Amino acid sequence: MPASSIDDLKSSIASAHSLQELADLEQQLFSRKHGVLTLALKELGKLPPEERSRRGQELNALKGECTALLEQRRGELGNAAVGSLAETDRMDVTLDLPARERGHLHLIPEFIRQVEDVFGRMGFTVAEGPEIEDEAHQFDLLNFPKEHAARDAQDIFYLDEESGAPASKDRFLLRGHTSPVQVRYMQEHQPPLRILCPGKVYRKDADATHSPMFHQFEGLMIGKDVSLANMKAVMVTAMRELISPAAEFRFRTGFFPFVEPGLEVDMRWQGEESASREGKWLEVVGCGMVHPNVLKNCGIDPKKFQGFAFGFGVERMIMIKHQIPDLRSFFVGDLRFLKQF
Ligand code: PHE
Repeated sequence: MPASSIDDLKSSIASAHSLQELADLEQQLFSRKHGVLTLALKELGKLPPEERSRRGQELNALKGECTALLEQRRGELGNAAVGSLAETDRMDVTLDLPARERGHLHLIPEFIRQVEDVFGRMGFTVAEGPEIEDEAHQFDLLNFPKEHAARDAQDIFYLDEESGAPASKDRFLLRGHTSPVQVRYMQEHQPPLRILCPGKVYRKDADATHSPMFHQFEGLMIGKDVSLANMKAVMVTAMRELISPAAEFRFRTGFFPFVEPGLEVDMRWQGEESASREGKWLEVVGCGMVHPNVLKNCGIDPKKFQGFAFGFGVERMIMIKHQIPDLRSFFVGDLRFLKQF
């Protein structure tokens, strides 16, 4: 095997451009069957002894040189590959990606959270009750006389036993207001107490300001000397914070069997008047001083304790806050409406 061929391979190693090219050159030199150096070493045996040792030393030296050259070039090409990553694998931080779509709460639960927050800061804790109520909690314990017309608006969605209502002397119905939660809470707790109970209620009306299902939150504060003036202060402070500092109110007397005296509170509607609404005022709250009979029914002594209760209509408050003309928009699920809030 002529020495020049090994020299050629040596210079090819120094100028190899890729690791693959180097691997090929290594094969040409060292492969067991055809490697130029392997074959040259095999030829040694055929040489006369004095020439054999000289040629042997020469070939060993060449082998060492080639191995070293291969190592060196392999190192150089490896570094270059890592170095070029800075160019080929660079992240372009200026690239403008489309914004990711994010959802948000529906405006009813969002508003209820704000309500809980505002009343929470005034010391009210959240209490809950069932949406399927018995007649006792829905009416009797709240001082509704048996045949009284005040039941009519809420005396609607009864469940029969076949549809799963538990057997009992009371009938069960979808609650028409959140006031039963007052009773449930007072049956278990003695004053002083301050609670807020948000939830769904069910009635038969349906028009621009009524829906068969809507949300209320009930408030109840009972203590030794809790007064109607306290009630007004708590409600007005909360509504100004929740709706607008400029909110305007109209207090009227109203009848609810479970309060005495009873009041209804309207808020001024700022938006465009709709044909279905009477004038510029919208009723948002029923409230009053808890009737002594209700306290008694719940095991609280009305000679020692007194206090107020209120029930707000959630959708109507939001209508006033955002000037939404039709309450039914809340439940249609039209994203064009929901995305505005
Ligand atoms: N529960 C009454 C209603 O739904 C509102 C109310 C609550 C009135 C508390 C007085 C006291 O109409």
